[in-house]
Amino acid sequence: MAASGTIDQRRADGTLRHLITLEGLGADEIEALLARAQHYARGLDQSAARSEPLRGVTIANLFTEPSTRTRVSFELAGRRLGADVVNIELQLSSRAKGESMLDTIYTLEALHFVVFVIREAEPGVLAQVAAHVGPKVSVLSAGEAHLSHPTQGLLDALTVRQHKGSIAAQTIAIVGDIRHSRVARSAYQAFHALGARALRLVGPAALLPAPHEFAGCERFETLEEGLEGADVVMILRIQKERFAANEIPDAQQYFARYGLTAARLSRAHPDAIVMHPQPMNRGIEIASDVADGPQSVIRQQVSNGVAVRMAVLEAVAGAAAA
Ligand code: NCD
Repeated sequence: MAASGTIDQRRADGTLRHLITLEGLGADEIEALLARAQHYARGLDQSAARSEPLRGVTIANLFTEPSTRTRVSFELAGRRLGADVVNIELQLSSRAKGESMLDTIYTLEALHFVVFVIREAEPGVLAQVAAHVGPKVSVLSAGEAHLSHPTQGLLDALTVRQHKGSIAAQTIAIVGDIRHSRVARSAYQAFHALGARALRLVGPAALLPAPHEFAGCERFETLEEGLEGADVVMILRIQKERFAANEIPDAQQYFARYGLTAARLSRAHPDAIVMHPQPMNRGIEIASDVADGPQSVIRQQVSNGVAVRMAVLEAVAGAAAA
């Protein structure tokens, strides 16, 4: 599968300018972002805890694929930091008249936008945009094709950290359509950098990634085996939009072999947490009672999305605002 394109995400002084992938970020850099996100997570329900380090910064959200949580939480994160945030409705913009992503970006740069948050179905577009914007502009991925979703990887790591302490002690099972999942790739990069004890990929052979990807992970085609003793169970949706219509797995058959039910979850560690990036397809990859059950941290993942995106926006744009 195509690479996301290479781009140096850092400024000359080593600080983070873009965040298109977690690949290449060191454990220290990830830890620093998680520590800052945890700071924001603590203050999230206290409205008085607003700080405004991004006052005067203008952020554009540009999404070419559907999104609920990522778009809303990037918007809230920007606003809580004092930035002006504009959601560009691409289907209503001149993109619909054939304008290229780059021409749209140049127009927005002329309007003094300095952060572009982009969700894009086509691999490589984010790196291309990052290579063409002015030196003060940052590009953040809100999900790129099947390749990368770095803020999701960070919020997943933060959620594990909050429940389990050190990532290094954990056995983490990622279950489902890993082959087409940007969430799995970014979560793997975060967990791997933070030294997770064991990383397992669980799913039917057709949905497991190519052998050269996900170095160091164990692979399981039987859910029960993959769950045995796991501390963290991350369930993924079948990415129907990335399949040919006649190749989409049958939902009932999938649930019968790979759906996370309470009985199957009992194979994991009794304190295991259940994660899902959402959108969820109840009754396909996860049973409803598990999704809403005591081991589920799925809603906490959503809340952590705001805190993580605040930390990332502050890291890339804080200096520009100062
Ligand atoms: C995911 C995505 O878009 O990659 N959603 C999200 O951002 N939380 C997962 C998915 O669509 O399955």
